[in-house]
Amino acid sequence: MKREQFSSSLGFVLAAAGSAVGIGNLVAFPVMASKNGGAAFLIMYAFFVFFICLPVMLAEMSLGRHTRQNPLGAYTEIGQNRAWRSVGWLSVITPFMIGVFYLVITVWIFGYLAKSVMGQLNELAGPDSFGSFINSNELFIYMAVVIGLTFAILQGGVKQGIEKAARVLMPMLFVMLIALVIYVFTLDNAMLGVKFFLIPEFDKLTGKVLNGALAQAFFSLSLAMGILITYGSYIQKNNNIVQAGKMVAGLSLLVAACSGLLILPAVFSFNPDIQLSELSESSIGMIFMFLPKIFLALQADIGYFGASFIASFFFLLVFFAALTSLVSIIEVPVCSLMDGKGVSRRTALFSLGLAMIVLAVICALSFGRVEALSELLSYGGKTKSFFDLVYDIFYETILPLNGLLLCLFVIYRWKKHNFDAEISQGNSSFAGSLLQKYVNFSLGTFIPFILAIIFVNTVSTIFFGRNLLF
Ligand code: PHE
Repeated sequence: MKREQFSSSLGFVLAAAGSAVGIGNLVAFPVMASKNGGAAFLIMYAFFVFFICLPVMLAEMSLGRHTRQNPLGAYTEIGQNRAWRSVGWLSVITPFMIGVFYLVITVWIFGYLAKSVMGQLNELAGPDSFGSFINSNELFIYMAVVIGLTFAILQGGVKQGIEKAARVLMPMLFVMLIALVIYVFTLDNAMLGVKFFLIPEFDKLTGKVLNGALAQAFFSLSLAMGILITYGSYIQKNNNIVQAGKMVAGLSLLVAACSGLLILPAVFSFNPDIQLSELSESSIGMIFMFLPKIFLALQADIGYFGASFIASFFFLLVFFAALTSLVSIIEVPVCSLMDGKGVSRRTALFSLGLAMIVLAVICALSFGRVEALSELLSYGGKTKSFFDLVYDIFYETILPLNGLLLCLFVIYRWKKHNFDAEISQGNSSFAGSLLQKYVNFSLGTFIPFILAIIFVNTVSTIFFGRNLLF
């Protein structure tokens, strides 16, 4: 069977940007940046994106395009031994499990969208509404809708499903984001928020902040999840990988920066005296507990209907971003199953979908409904739920490990000259360029080294309660 392909470089860029732009850019980044040095954080983050993440991104894309395989197939074909095949497995299981927790969060977003549209914003802004919402029965209705939509897109295949969804949703997302930024700028005290977001404070850039920023940049660009290997396997040979990679990284950064201009002015117009320490560390707290209050407060100005409209608009924006990310992450195991077992897309989607639904339901029950799941086990001095466990293992721990192994694999197993030859197709000026030297050198030396430090420190912090670095 001929491998499916994106119709053009732009198709790939939009699909990959759809994967990259998610809750991370829209919510986690603005909160992180404003608390940790404003423009100083932004500059450092941009540096990480282009000097550390971009080389990894190019490595993944080239590996995928060269092998025309999913991550498991790619590691098996080039690795030629059991150890590398196991790494391949890790690169398929990780996205599957991250997909499970991301699905749960996407369902919450969709629920908040549906409720704002149905005029229940005042309920969402209530003190315990999030806790009761995630434990409600209606959650499962929203879950069914989100799963239905995601799988319908995936069933369409690469061109008619993934690429088409990205071509429709991404431009809408950009327009909606800009419209919301313009709107919040008209609110009182908006400029206070812009100030907080953009005034640089270099002394806030501690080791801990750097570590967090790099982890965030990695996650935000969908690295080390096998996504770009998989999407890379659908890129045409004459497309320019470097140019496409730069565009994806740039778009993701741009959306993150614009979101800062949306979230912080909104926060400060709601309460000009707010202390940044009052903002929740987590994007979950921000989206589901804090923002609904801000939206509701708009009713003084524009009435309840207007406030509900703005809330719906915002949740729709976040939902689009989350949906395209969710699609990309589920495509990894789907593609692996299709390549590995030769089954049809429909069969792959059906069997993986079933497994995913079971795990997502278990996650959804682990927020207090079923005690055995909510207090599953304890480590690092904390009691953890099933959801926490999935998050800690796959997102926090295995992600940097996968990234590290990928760098070593590309440079020392696949070898630099093969990697360079692949990138050079569609980009004749790459060979001998400064970029080539930088990419080869960094991927073989300091990038895996930094990822190794992050990995060891994460294991020690999360599972043993001891932070080795700070
Ligand atoms: N880039 C996404 C974000 O910022 C992260 C992600 C990508 C999550 C792909 C899941 C799948 O939210």
